[in-house]
Amino acid sequence: MENKGSIIGIFAIVAILAVGGFFLFKNNNSGTSTTDSQQNTPKTYALSEIAKHNTPSSCWMVINSDVYDVTSYIPSHANNMIEDGCGKDATAMYEDVRKHMGKGDALLPEYLIGTLQS
Ligand code: HEM
Repeated sequence: MENKGSIIGIFAIVAILAVGGFFLFKNNNSGTSTTDSQQNTPKTYALSEIAKHNTPSSCWMVINSDVYDVTSYIPSHANNMIEDGCGKDATAMYEDVRKHMGKGDALLPEYLIGTLQS
């Protein structure tokens, strides 16, 4: 009888540890995967959304399928031609200016907010 009692006791401990371990693993796992997916998923914007930001006070533009919010850069730009690109795919306008190669390209990552929805 004593033997039977200790077998049941050991079984109960093993069962508790197994269930506890399962929940610990499950929570850790879902915790990391939620954070990962939030950090790794780039934000995508439709052109119709970008078109709403077509003024110097809120200026988004697409350059090579990436979306930039350049509102805060406008006052520092060499001239007001940058405003022509607000709310549009400005790839051609931007690339037509050879001076952008170097300085302009180096500045762009600072203003990146996402990618164009395909
Ligand atoms: C539609 C969009 C844009 C147009 C039409 C445009 C146009 C121009 C033009 C015509 C110049 C030459 C000025 C000169 O000869 O002195 C220039 C220079 C410059 N632009 Fe833009 N721009 C645009 C967007 C941007 C953006 C988004 C950035 C960066 C965030 C940028 C950064 C610069 C810089 C740094 C220069 C000076 C380059 C230098 O002097 O070496 N531009 N831009």
